[in-house]
Amino acid sequence: MSTAVGQIRLLLVEDVPQVSQYMRGLLNAQSQVKLVDIVSDGGRAATQARQLRPDVVIVDWLLQGRTKGDKVVAQLREAGLGIPVVVLTVPQSPVARNPAAGIHAVLGMPFSGFELVSVVAAAHQAALAATEAAQSRLVTVYAPKGGVGKTTVAFNLAVAVAQGGARTALVDGSLQFGDLRSLLRVPADAPSILDLPTDRIGESDLQDVLWRDPSGIDILLAPPRVEMADMVSVRDMEKAISLLRRLYAVVVVDMPAALGDIPLALLDAADTILEIVTYDSTTIRNTLAVAEAFRAIGYPAAKVQYVVNRADSSGGIDAEDLARALGRVPEHTIVSDGRLVVQANNEGLPFVLANPDAPISRDVARIAAHLAGAAPLAAARR
Ligand SMILES: Nc1ncnc2c1ncn2[C@@H]1O[C@H](COP(=O)(O)OP(=O)(O)OP(=O)(O)O)[C@@H](O)[C@H]1O
Ligand SMILES: [Mg+2]
Repeated sequence: MSTAVGQIRLLLVEDVPQVSQYMRGLLNAQSQVKLVDIVSDGGRAATQARQLRPDVVIVDWLLQGRTKGDKVVAQLREAGLGIPVVVLTVPQSPVARNPAAGIHAVLGMPFSGFELVSVVAAAHQAALAATEAAQSRLVTVYAPKGGVGKTTVAFNLAVAVAQGGARTALVDGSLQFGDLRSLLRVPADAPSILDLPTDRIGESDLQDVLWRDPSGIDILLAPPRVEMADMVSVRDMEKAISLLRRLYAVVVVDMPAALGDIPLALLDAADTILEIVTYDSTTIRNTLAVAEAFRAIGYPAAKVQYVVNRADSSGGIDAEDLARALGRVPEHTIVSDGRLVVQANNEGLPFVLANPDAPISRDVARIAAHLAGAAPLAAARR
C-alpha cells in the first residue's frame, strides 16, 4: 500500500458500517488523508496500529464490542506508539480532549469532510511538533584508531549525561566487534539490534531489545557474534536511531574505527562527533586524514569536537604540536587513570559512578555537561 509523500495515514476503529461508509466517502473525495484500514473489533486496534503504523487513529467512543472506545484509547496509549488518537463521539456522550489520557482531539458527529480532515491534520501536526520539541542529540564517539578509549569514554559519558538528568541511550555501533557486551557482562542471549523487526519498528519493539544497565542507561547492543554484523543494514540502523531519538534526550554511539556504510550513516546523523585523539605519533596523520574526509563530505567544522584521552601521558607529541596540526586547541581532555579504568571496566562499572571525584570522572562529567548545555535536554518525552 503506497502513500504519497505528505499524505496522512489514518486508521479508523469503527463498528458501525454506515459511519465507516460515510467516512470512506468523505476521504475518497480528497487526497490529504489516506484511510489505511478500518478495524471493527476494538480489541484488534492496538495490534493493527502497531502493524500499520498510521499517523493518526480515529476511535469511535461508542464502540459496542467487548473492547469499548475508552479501553481502545487506553490500549493505544499503553502500546507506546506515539500515534495521536482522535475520539469520535456524539453530543449526548461528550468527551473532553485529554492528551495525557491519550485523547489528542475530539470529533463530534455530525461532521463534514472539511472538519474530519482538519481535525486529523491538526492532530498529526501537533504530534510532529511535540517530537521536534523533544529533539534529542546524537553523539558519536569516534576515532580512526583502535584502542584509544572509544568504548570506555562512550560508556562513561553516557552514564554521566544520564546522571545530569537526561534520558540517555547508548548504542554499540561497533557491530562486528562490539565491546559493550563483554564490558557490561551481558548474558550471551541478551537481545541485540538484530532482534528488532525489519519492517516498521515501534517503540515497544525497541523497549523489548534494549539492555537496561544498572548504571541508569539503556543500551542497544551489537549482535552477539561477529558474522552476524552483516545482517544489519544501514536502514535497520537508521530506523533504530531515529526511534531512539524520539525516546531519549541523548543518544551516544560507541563507534568502530573503520568507516563503512553504517558508521558513515551514524556520523552523518550525528549532531556532534566526539573524536578521540591521543598524544602518539600516528594520531596526527590519522586525525588529519579524517578531518580531510569530513571536510570533503561537507561536515561543518563545529560538528567535530576533539577529546584528548590520557591527556597527561605524552607519547612523544606535545599539546602544541597537536593543536597546530588540528588547526585548533582540542575542546576536551581526559586524564589517564589506568588503575581506576581497569578496575571499573573489569567490574563492568562506569568509573564516573565508581569514583565520581576522581579527576578522570570529573573530566568526563565536564564533557557531559558541555554536551547537555548544547540542547534543551530536559525536553525528553515521557
Ligand atoms: N583515560 C584512560 N586512562 C587509562 N586507561 C584508559 C583510558 N582510556 C582508555 N583506557 C584503556 O585503554 C584500553 C582501550 O580502551 P577502549 O576499549 O575503550 O578503546 P576503544 O577505542 O574502544 O578500542 P577498540 O578500537 O578496540 O574498540 C582499555 O584497556 C582501557 O582500560
Ligand atoms: Mg571499543
